[in-house]
Amino acid sequence: MTIDYSEKIPNNVDLAGNKTLQRALLHWQPEFLHWWADMGPEGTSNVDVYLRTAVSVEPKGWAHFDYVKMPDYRWGIFLAPAEADRKVNFGAHKGEPAWQEVPGEYRANLRRLIVTQGDTEPASVEQQRHLGLTCPSLYDLRNLFQVNVEEGRHLWAMVYLLHAHFGRDGREEAEALLERRSGDADNPRILGAFNEPTPDWLSFFMFTFFTDRDGKYQLCSLAESGFDPLARTCRFMLTEEAHHMFVGESGVGRVIQRTCEAMAASRTDDPATLRAQGVIDLPTIQRYLNLHFSVTMDLFGSDVSSNAATFYTTGLKGRFDETKIPDDHLLVGATYPVLEIRDGRLATAEAPALNALNEKLRDDYIRDATAGIERWNKIIEKQGVAFRLKAPHKAFHRRIGPLAAANIDPDGNVVSAAEWAASVDRWLPSAADRVFVASLMGRVAAPGRYANWIAPPARGINNQPADFEYVRFN
Ligand SMILES: [Fe+2]
Ligand SMILES: [Fe+2]
Repeated sequence: MTIDYSEKIPNNVDLAGNKTLQRALLHWQPEFLHWWADMGPEGTSNVDVYLRTAVSVEPKGWAHFDYVKMPDYRWGIFLAPAEADRKVNFGAHKGEPAWQEVPGEYRANLRRLIVTQGDTEPASVEQQRHLGLTCPSLYDLRNLFQVNVEEGRHLWAMVYLLHAHFGRDGREEAEALLERRSGDADNPRILGAFNEPTPDWLSFFMFTFFTDRDGKYQLCSLAESGFDPLARTCRFMLTEEAHHMFVGESGVGRVIQRTCEAMAASRTDDPATLRAQGVIDLPTIQRYLNLHFSVTMDLFGSDVSSNAATFYTTGLKGRFDETKIPDDHLLVGATYPVLEIRDGRLATAEAPALNALNEKLRDDYIRDATAGIERWNKIIEKQGVAFRLKAPHKAFHRRIGPLAAANIDPDGNVVSAAEWAASVDRWLPSAADRVFVASLMGRVAAPGRYANWIAPPARGINNQPADFEYVRFN
């Protein structure tokens, strides 16, 4: 299934065959470009970036690499191929043919799911818009821009669904997606983590490792949806998401690598000595990890949620790897463990599995994120450094759900407000940590050169040589 790039809006959904929809999207397109010029990566209207663009939706060989002027990137609408005779695979409609149109009674909930997902996409572009000014290399700058244009495309993916299937309300929601602003006091983005600033590159790498991975888990759940256009849209988005998590994992990995090299060379683990050498000490990396992990925990929502039950029972949002789970896919009467605070400590309680689906997805995510942290630990081990990074307890530093009422330390102990206040600078980035990390951020933009605080990557994008000019400033 090849994508038609001769169209004003590249697509594989036969947009030309639906003039009303095409007209609506052609009307939204300049508004999107206006938003991009306003809120997209700063100072990029005239730079050429070595970007990949989707040319097909087949899993192998969909990407084409070339220099693209940023505002000329071809954002388009790409759905993964339809699966013949696909069924609704869970909930009350299990076994019925998957829906090609929105079932009237589920319209409001489905729209809400699509808008909530769609809102995160432009939000992250807004959060990251100043980072280009302090890039540690052209390689990293290119990766940032690649993530940014693809998040822009993910917005297109959700806006297509809104325009194609939700009539007037869909068009209004599509406009509102361009009006909310990350961190804005009056009109913020919908989810908390997407209103937090991404002030430096360590935060950016942590964000793409942890928060883009939340995106992966949400998209995987929506890719199971009984509403087939949503499932197909999300399946293709997942192929792009993989690169974002690669940027995060390899980015943090290279910071760790550089720090461990400095530790080995000067035989010290003293943070002050290492900071004086211009590298980021491992305890600081741990604190950034704690912050981004905990903020992402909240994105999965309340531990016990009647909305989650409704989305599942009505076939709108499945579980991660739904069709691979060997159970009845109805979950009526099943239970799932959730945490609560009992007698001043964390305890496990059994909740109805249908209501605990957020918690289940959170646990699936934690397994995946923890495996990535272990790969970082391998880098540390290889350098002979005695230090291990660790995911904090899932109850640590929560702002959503019943656990938000307590102060819980990274090991899962309930602590007093006084203990929290006395220790928080050991657990989360302190003002001094942020000032230090910010002090390292200076623009390195010569081919083959890297900032002192980060190791070069093991290999180039699309196998390009080490001194490749990934970004050309005209
Ligand atoms: Fe995305
Ligand atoms: Fe992403």
